[in-house]
Order: sequence, then C-alpha cells, then structure tokens
Amino acid sequence: MNWMAEAKTMLPQAVALRRQIHRHPELGLDNPKTRDLVLDQLKGIDVEIVRGKSTSGVVVSMHGARKGKSIILRGDTDALPMPEDTGLPFSSEVAGRMHACGHDAHTSMLVHAVKLLDRHRDQFAGTVKFMFQPGEEGFHGARYMIEEGMIDADACFALHIIPNIRAGTIAGKPGPTMASADRWEIVVKGRGGHASAPHDAIDPVPVGFEIGLALQHMVTRRHSVFDPVVVTVARVAAGTTNNVIPEAIELEGTLRTTSPGARKSAQENIRRVAQNIAAAHLCVAEVNIVEGYPVTINDAGFTGFARDVARALIGDKNYLDMAAPVMGAEDFSYVLQKIPGCMLQLGVMPEQRDPSGHVAPVHSNRMMLNEDAMATGIAMHAAVATKFLAA
Ligand code: NI
Repeated sequence: MNWMAEAKTMLPQAVALRRQIHRHPELGLDNPKTRDLVLDQLKGIDVEIVRGKSTSGVVVSMHGARKGKSIILRGDTDALPMPEDTGLPFSSEVAGRMHACGHDAHTSMLVHAVKLLDRHRDQFAGTVKFMFQPGEEGFHGARYMIEEGMIDADACFALHIIPNIRAGTIAGKPGPTMASADRWEIVVKGRGGHASAPHDAIDPVPVGFEIGLALQHMVTRRHSVFDPVVVTVARVAAGTTNNVIPEAIELEGTLRTTSPGARKSAQENIRRVAQNIAAAHLCVAEVNIVEGYPVTINDAGFTGFARDVARALIGDKNYLDMAAPVMGAEDFSYVLQKIPGCMLQLGVMPEQRDPSGHVAPVHSNRMMLNEDAMATGIAMHAAVATKFLAA
C-alpha cells in the first residue's frame, strides 16, 4: 500500500479543513464548532461515534475486515489565547485567539486519516479509535476523556508538528520525550515598615531574591545533570513605592523535569529551600505547587515499531532520532500512562523564513507551517495503525 501517494491526493482537502479550523480557533475544554466540523466531515462513513460528557471530546471507532486488537490515534482541537501576527490570508478571525500550536493541522490530519483508512478496511483487523480531544493547552482534556472511560486500546499514537525541523521529516525518541510541567508560587511574608529603618521591619524583599538565587543552586547541587530539572522564576512582585518596605514578596514560576523521581524530589526541594531561607531571616514562606502534566514517556518497544514504520514510509534519512526530550509538556502523557504507545514530532518548517533564518516556534504569534507536510502526517497515522493491526 502506498500510503504517501494516496495521502498526497487528499492534501488539498486537508489544507482547506486546516485553514477553516485556523480561522475559527476555540479554547479550553469546549470546542463545539471544531467538533461539529470534524463530525460533518465524517458523515456517510461507517464509524461509531462516542461524545464526551464533560468536554467536547469525541472518539470515532472504525472496524477493520476482521476482529483484532485496537489502537488509538489522537488529534487535539484547541487553540491558544494570544494574538496572531502571521499576516496569512486565513488568519484567526477571533481577536486574541490563535492556533499557534498546530492543533488545527493535527485535527485535519486525523480527519483525513479516517477517510484514508475507510477506503482500506481490508488492510487491518480490529479497531482504529480516532481521539479528537479539546483542552490540551493546560486544561487536561485527555485526562477528562480517560476519566469518562472513553480511552481504551492496546496501543496509542500521536504526532505533534514542530516548525523547527525540515518539513516532512519525523523525529522521536523512546522514554521521556516531553517534560512534566508544574506551576509553583512562593509568598514570603515579613513585616512592613519605613524603607529608611529596615531593622524595625522584617524586609521580605532580599529574602525573596535569596530564594530566587538559591533555587538555581538547588538545581545544580541537588539534581543529577543526567536527570534534568529546570526551575524558572518567571514573575516577581513586591511593594508599591520607593520608601516603604512591603509586607510580602511573591515569586512564581515553572518546574520542568523528565522523570517522576526528579519531579517529586524537586517539588520537595523547592519547599524546603524557600521555607528555611525565609525562616533564617524571620520570615515565613508559603509554597504552593500546582501539578500540571506528567512526563510524556514513550514506550520503548512501540517507539521502535513506529520508527520502522516511519523509515519505510519516508526513507531512513528522514527519520531523526531525538538526542534529548523537549521541555514543553503534553497531556498525551496521561494516555501514555495507561496505554503503551508513543508521540512523535512531525517536521513542518516553512519554506519562507525571515532573512536571519529564524523559525517561529510553536506558541509564537508568527508560527507558520509548511502544509505539504500534512500528507506525511496523514500517511503516518494510516501506516502505524494498519501495521499494528496487520490483518
Ligand atoms: Ni500542542
């Protein structure tokens, strides 16, 4: 079966659907317009459709020629709350919203994988489950679908576009492939007073600075370089004017790790460092850590399988073994905690770039992609599913 050749014939429709979704971005757990566009495209195709209760998520199941195993293919549907400055003719028509993470392309590629596989049900036994999920951008959409019992299969697979590598290539690695992402906030409380007489107050400001620096020492002294930890202080706030010592200082930031063990110990270390430095200076530190997505861990066996499928599809030189994880986070991590599988990256580097050669990454207001690469994405979904469910 020449999946690439057939996927290329679908490219005009796939691009048109992607642009339609791009014009009308939706946020969070409820993406009804995007869901309805997807369902509209699937009219007349013999599939079972299960709709989510707590989200606009949908699982579309397609049965092959005979009974067999099952595999989940996933596409996310939500956009980001940010302006678009690409200047493209099909730019977002909703102010302050943009599909800057390529989920419009993910959704369209998955819709066209449904159409492609529908023509070739004789090529697989068992069931392909197409997971259209909202709320990937920090809303835990995949987790809600799992909690509703919608997500169950023998394997799972997802592709995420990445503008920074050559269009049409696929990249991946076994094991940790994306980071955990936790939000932390530290409020250091002292006692306010006159800025000319700090000894009569308990000034929390230098204590906050000391904690900010100590968090970086903590990363290099308490964590192995082979089990990476990133702590970034991204927001600091204190005070109102030049001659008043404020009552408190706030620090806020992100914690990224690539193993559950490093995540747990880094959380404990942040608490201990903040609380004890504050105590040393007669202050009190309140530490609040809000857990985001867990580490995205690709199953080694399935990743090797998917790599073989990719090499057969696009040639050995177009599959790139990633040297290191990406420190961004993904809620496909929840699916991978339950079902063996993998997430790979699909290169979509645009042909036209600014003279410096800089490529706008995902989440940039200027993020663009080479839509030709969507044919590779459609074909890869079909090839992975049929190879796993070989009839
Ligand atoms: Ni994304």
